[in-house]
Amino acid sequence: MRERTIFVLIVVALLLLGLGYWSATNLDLMPQQASTRAVVVDQLFRILLGVATVIFLLVEGALIFAILRFRARPDDVSDAEPYHGNNSLEIIWTLIPALIVLVIGVYSFRVLTQIERQPDSPMVVEVIGRQFSWEFRYPQEGISSAVLHLPVDQTVRFEITSEDVIHSFWVPAFRAKRDATPGQISDLVITPNDIGIYPIRCAELCGVGHANMVADVIVESRADFEAWVASVSSIPEDPIEAGRFVYEQYGCGACHALSDYGSVAVVGPELDGIGERGATTVEGLDARGYILQSIINPNAYLTPGFQANLMPQNFGDRMSEQELDILVDYLLEQ
Ligand code: CUA
Repeated sequence: MRERTIFVLIVVALLLLGLGYWSATNLDLMPQQASTRAVVVDQLFRILLGVATVIFLLVEGALIFAILRFRARPDDVSDAEPYHGNNSLEIIWTLIPALIVLVIGVYSFRVLTQIERQPDSPMVVEVIGRQFSWEFRYPQEGISSAVLHLPVDQTVRFEITSEDVIHSFWVPAFRAKRDATPGQISDLVITPNDIGIYPIRCAELCGVGHANMVADVIVESRADFEAWVASVSSIPEDPIEAGRFVYEQYGCGACHALSDYGSVAVVGPELDGIGERGATTVEGLDARGYILQSIINPNAYLTPGFQANLMPQNFGDRMSEQELDILVDYLLEQ
């Protein structure tokens, strides 16, 4: 009888370990990997998943076994036998989990120090979150963009901050997420290692436009990256294309719908037809004056149905006079 119990226990233990190994190696729960840190993070995740599978099946299995095996039979009205503890059992079920937690803790710490290591001379990209768009500034190149472009295999240090409330810069394919906190700059080091386009999300509920606070990161070859830098360093000649360029650069489409540009967001008023209706919206202002006021001082007149302070108040400081002119001219045509 005792030998049979030991045999059953060994079979159950092997089965549990096998299932744990299977879940660690076969379950694909993570999105595509696009950075060097994704490799080590996923490795850690797989090991945790395997350990968790074994523990889950062991605990739930023991529970189901106890429910079935020791349930009250019909007509059985006797009390359960009193039980006064078992020292060896208690030592075992304290020691083994403590060991598991210790090993996982040391391993996780090593992964953390590995992925947080600061490189010697990284490329720097400043990430600014604001309701409800991301802005990426390249101080070394002197440009700024609403789309994040990165050269492949180049280590980048993101310097992340916010201009209003707390946002969270999250690139699932990089396995990286860091809060964007007003008044504070947080570092995040990433080496993208796979050419492609990956989503950027805001992972902190930051207001009505939170779900629209999306952008893309384009990981491209060094040559493509340099071509892009050259293209955004100069505004196009054609006024309409220049308008779309500025509209894109300041992330207007994150909050406003505009057919010509193809944006559909509804956080702020729709911009189709603003050139015509702007002429009569505010008394004493022609369409040009109205559009300009709405950009640099958005609270001065609020379109019915929209709240104050939803739109950043600092476009007047951020945009050059030339960019403002281009954008106003462009919107007048809409
Ligand atoms: Cu920004 Cu959510």
